[in-house]
Amino acid sequence: MIQIEELRKVYRARGREVTAVDGVDLTVREGEVFGVLGRSGAGKSTLLRCVNLLERPDSGRVVVAGQDLMALRGGELRRARQGIGMIHQHFGLLSSRTVAGNVAFPLEVMGVPRAERAERVAELLDLVGLSDHADAYPAQISGGQKQRVGIARALAGRPKVLLSDEATSALDPETTASILELLRDLNRRLGLTILLITHEMDVVKRICDSAAIMREGRFVESGPVRELLLRPGSELARGLFPLPEPAVRPGTTVVDLTFEGDSADRPFVSSLARTYSIDVNILGGAVEEIGDTRVGRLRVELPGDPELNAAQLAHLRDAGLTVEVHGAAPAGPATDSGLEVAR
Ligand SMILES: Nc1ncnc2c1ncn2[C@@H]1O[C@H](COP(=O)(O)OP(=O)(O)OP(=O)(O)O)[C@@H](O)[C@H]1O
Ligand SMILES: [Mg+2]
Repeated sequence: MIQIEELRKVYRARGREVTAVDGVDLTVREGEVFGVLGRSGAGKSTLLRCVNLLERPDSGRVVVAGQDLMALRGGELRRARQGIGMIHQHFGLLSSRTVAGNVAFPLEVMGVPRAERAERVAELLDLVGLSDHADAYPAQISGGQKQRVGIARALAGRPKVLLSDEATSALDPETTASILELLRDLNRRLGLTILLITHEMDVVKRICDSAAIMREGRFVESGPVRELLLRPGSELARGLFPLPEPAVRPGTTVVDLTFEGDSADRPFVSSLARTYSIDVNILGGAVEEIGDTRVGRLRVELPGDPELNAAQLAHLRDAGLTVEVHGAAPAGPATDSGLEVAR
């Protein structure tokens, strides 16, 4: 649905150059919720604004719903943009218009006749659960309700794609959860493809099918969330399951185990302890609901150096776990975190 290739955007201001987006490839499949995570200044907003050409990239390709946007001009580009809705952190509502008036605004711009407009506004307000607030002004409603207006307005032109720039950053956790639920619901009910950017892990955990981590204009990792979580050395996994740098005691093996779905339900720790008659020390961990599955990460300590634990580690891998050994591991490529990795 969204296909971006080798996208670059450089800002030039007062003789200074900032490469905000530095060669990003991105594919968002139809009906998918894709999250781009990154710190402030990573280039997330720039990337998003390049998807609807609010910002014209210096080079690369932007294809949305089969249309090569950079090849379009004037009216053609405007029409293509109607198929792409956008919501923002600060809602951007018109304070002099009611809730209904705000939602009607894009329909007026599109030249939708009055009667049809009223019908469509009612439909949109119903969709976001705001039918009872149609006549309220933005100053009279809560932040969460304002974002619902923003969403209704973004959906006015029946877009196939919704772009979201930190849509929940200004909201408290409970309201954030309800807005994310609404986005998930719209994604499922309308088949809406959503590309969202955020700096909150929680957003990715709750609604994203796929995700990318962006740093200094580039994607440092990207893929389906479940796949990333099970990938050894994944930054997303480290973000979702924060564990401190391990202090590996001499003569022990410290292992991070990532498990999901079925393997989460099996007593692999006690099975390991029983099979090898060893004491397994649990150092930390967490279990999270990711989409429809449970994913967990557990840090355990086994007696003996890693070389002496080859059979034990194989036992864990055979149980379907992703196994990351800290310290001097017997096999596997080193990652940039200094973690030795074996799957
Ligand atoms: N209009 C502009 N002119 C010049 N530089 C810009 C412009 N917009 C963004 N930048 C620069 O481009 C880089 C990426 O900015 P961008 O707003 O895309 O980051 P971001 O990831 O969205 O950050 P945040 O999380 O703070 O919103 C930053 O270094 C920023 O200063
Ligand atoms: Mg931004």
